[in-house]
Amino acid sequence: MEQHIGFFNSILRANAVIIEHEALKDYAKDCTEDLEYIPQVALLPSTAEQVSKIMAYCYEHNLPVTPRGAGTGLSGGALPVNGGVVISCKNLNQILDINTDAFQATVEPGVINEVFQNACKEKGLFYPPDPASKGSCFMGGNLAENSGGPKAVKYGTTKDYVLNLEVVLPNGEMIWTGANVLKNATGYNLTQLVCGSEGTLGFITKIVVRLLPYPKENLLLLASFNDIATPCRAVNAILKAGITPSGLEYMERNAVDWSMRFADISLDLAAETEAILLVEVDGNNLETLYQDVEQINGILEEYDCSNVFFAESDLEKERLWKVRRVCGEAVHSHSIYKEEDTVVPRNHLPELLTSVKAIGKQFGFESVCYGHAGDGNLHVNILKGEMDDEAWNKTVKLGIREIFEVCKNLGGTISGEHGIGLVQREYMDVVFSVTQLELMRSIKKVFDPKGLMNPGKIF
Ligand code: LAC
Ligand code: ZN
Repeated sequence: MEQHIGFFNSILRANAVIIEHEALKDYAKDCTEDLEYIPQVALLPSTAEQVSKIMAYCYEHNLPVTPRGAGTGLSGGALPVNGGVVISCKNLNQILDINTDAFQATVEPGVINEVFQNACKEKGLFYPPDPASKGSCFMGGNLAENSGGPKAVKYGTTKDYVLNLEVVLPNGEMIWTGANVLKNATGYNLTQLVCGSEGTLGFITKIVVRLLPYPKENLLLLASFNDIATPCRAVNAILKAGITPSGLEYMERNAVDWSMRFADISLDLAAETEAILLVEVDGNNLETLYQDVEQINGILEEYDCSNVFFAESDLEKERLWKVRRVCGEAVHSHSIYKEEDTVVPRNHLPELLTSVKAIGKQFGFESVCYGHAGDGNLHVNILKGEMDDEAWNKTVKLGIREIFEVCKNLGGTISGEHGIGLVQREYMDVVFSVTQLELMRSIKKVFDPKGLMNPGKIF
């Protein structure tokens, strides 16, 4: 690697070429379990042209390249498993344009999701995709993983907002994938191919998204239940009644307790509460929203909801959302865990949840479940606790495979929003045939014939 550092130094500022072992540790982990892979060098370009030069050089010299956002990923997509070069988008962090006439924005990949959301909000515009890590995750990572979040139930995920991407291909060439338009029936959809491709096809250097008008009002309630599956049935009933909440989130009791402790927030839950739902509605007409909430209350009652807490102020809303958002971190602080990102048609959520618990019993693991019930997207957190490494690395994986088989049989799949990355790739055969996988591998080869771009991911 030493021979290559001279080149990297010639195109980047000195502090944008990281080679010291201690400093490289910041580029060795993401939020996936306790995995760590130290790269040989981490580069922090601040222009797309620099990225292009670096990639062309790496391609010529057969150096593996791992693109990196903020490192909040949950499937190991940013881990440099083959060593080599990490290219961080940290210094590509400009909001280039928020166009209030076209309802579009152009950003660089290192912009923090929430910083972008707030900049849009100041102009009366709304960028809905809001992963739990929105306060720290980067737009580039969101695009690479096709991130979701609580608002997806009403507003969709990242893929529903991206219009066009500037991408540096593995050989250093730069392309735009589409056009800055709301409708586009022009050839293959390269934009949607790159979105969610987990950094395996190229490095995203500019992102064009569409925006919505910011909804002026919202109401939020927390509903408690004395068993774990009934709330999932209530979710379906709410949507069937013709109401589309802007958030419809589920948490098991343990997830709530650990999150409250982690965030130092106390919610008044009865001892019998086994699970909760957070239900948010938004729009411009407060009266209509109150009518929706009344109807939702009626449905919750029919589904044996034991208590409904209505958030009266912005502060209360913030507290409730915080308890939900810190959930992943709270579980992590409790135990090493494997986070599964199961997703099924939402009417099958109760069956998925019941099966997860039964499989846990069979294979000897504890799980804490929470997630985006309105999308049928359940995060199953499997806790290592006192389990020995043998059981953790072998038996638990058999259990996970069973859970994924259940997902498939219910018409679902193995990741809703976290991606496949490193840790889910061994399960791809559960949901894809040899032919399907071969098609995907062939696409990868067209973009990256040398297999240098984020190697070891997805397949
Ligand atoms: C969440 C992340 C883990 O929903 O996706 O909290
Ligand atoms: Zn989630």
